[in-house]
Amino acid sequence: MTNKDTILSVEHVSMIFGGLVAVNDLSFEARRGEITALIGPNGAGKTTVFNCITGFYKPTQGMMKLTRSNGETYLLERLPDFQVNREAKVARTFQNLRLFSGLTLLENLLVAQHNALNKASYYTVGGLLGLSHYKTFAAEAKDKARYWLDRIGLTARADDPAGDLPYGAQRRLEIARAMCTGPELLCLDEPAAGLNPRESDDLNRLLLSIRDDHNMAILLIEHDMSVVMGISDHVVVLDYGKKISDGTPNHVKNDPAVIRAYLGVEDVEEELAAIDKAAAKTAATPVVATAPAAKAPLPKLASEFKSERVNIPPPPVLKLPDEAMPARAGSASAGSEKAAPVKAAEDKKPAAKSATRKAPAKKVPAKKAAAKAPAKKASAKAGKTSKKGGRS
Ligand SMILES: Nc1ncnc2c1ncn2[C@@H]1O[C@H](COP(=O)(O)OP(=O)(O)O)[C@@H](O)[C@H]1O
Ligand SMILES: [Mg+2]
Repeated sequence: MTNKDTILSVEHVSMIFGGLVAVNDLSFEARRGEITALIGPNGAGKTTVFNCITGFYKPTQGMMKLTRSNGETYLLERLPDFQVNREAKVARTFQNLRLFSGLTLLENLLVAQHNALNKASYYTVGGLLGLSHYKTFAAEAKDKARYWLDRIGLTARADDPAGDLPYGAQRRLEIARAMCTGPELLCLDEPAAGLNPRESDDLNRLLLSIRDDHNMAILLIEHDMSVVMGISDHVVVLDYGKKISDGTPNHVKNDPAVIRAYLGVEDVEEELAAIDKAAAKTAATPVVATAPAAKAPLPKLASEFKSERVNIPPPPVLKLPDEAMPARAGSASAGSEKAAPVKAAEDKKPAAKSATRKAPAKKVPAKKAAAKAPAKKASAKAGKTSKKGGRS
């Protein structure tokens, strides 16, 4: 068994709610020691896939095979949810935080080990009698909790209520809690949602260290493309429940099907070709052509427009970071503050469109527009009169 073995194999999984196909014939693999990102616009079916893997839903059809490091295999679609965690060693976090906010950090991490502790105490009896077996186990559980508190940098706050932590720290605590159950596959549903850039960096480092130090397989749903492109080894893209791309972050980033899904553009090749053409034309245009205009005397308008309108600053130039991927136009992540890449993509879209030749073709020539205007007025008048006529 190598470090990069397949741990999860999802085969032709579909999930249908009434008439809605939330997941449509999905197949992909996740490997040990790798971060596999599951991305796609809102409503693409990502959380539904997680719910199927972790036993919350039984898929309408398909198979999900999990192979543990000891060689045992489990068909997850046949297991009840508690066994998916206990036997198959799959742990998850949720899109919305689900910590025990009134319990301390340490207690949160001990509660996560409740099942094992309960078993070790022979269902409380051994614990009450103070059996050494239970004491050893309880000490180990505390060590594990302290280890993970240290890994997420929150040892100093071990005895504070979890609800008092800043949001980013609560997210890390949730991951630590999942790790305390001793998983082999860790499923994280939008862990970077609502984090500021610094918290997001901390999270990236934590996930990379969990992957490398524990040879962990991580399945990650994420909207923040800087996280996805920065730390994923493998990306699977969903759109309307169907897989539209699967490969390395670089492959997926340049896949026309992904750009189409995120930008909502009909024909990506045509769009890109038009942009290239427009760019080439601009580059070929001789600079002298614009020179006379620059030399022309300043129009008197400058004095006429002394109002604050003249001082309107130019619109900011938004730049997409190189690794960022545009989100589907008009679909920002719900509840996420990470809308910057989305915004940038949206702002870019009209610019790209204006670079095509289609846009000017649709414009009504000035003369025609002028000719049309009186006709409209006339017809409006006619409408008014006929209305009046109708009333009288
Ligand atoms: N329990 C459910 N009952 C009915 N429809 C659902 C249920 N869960 C999810 N859906 C629908 O399935 C689709 C995919 O949802 P979801 O998996 O939450 O998307 P994502 O996580 O990619 O944003 C959505 O159209 C959603 O409304
Ligand atoms: Mg979701």
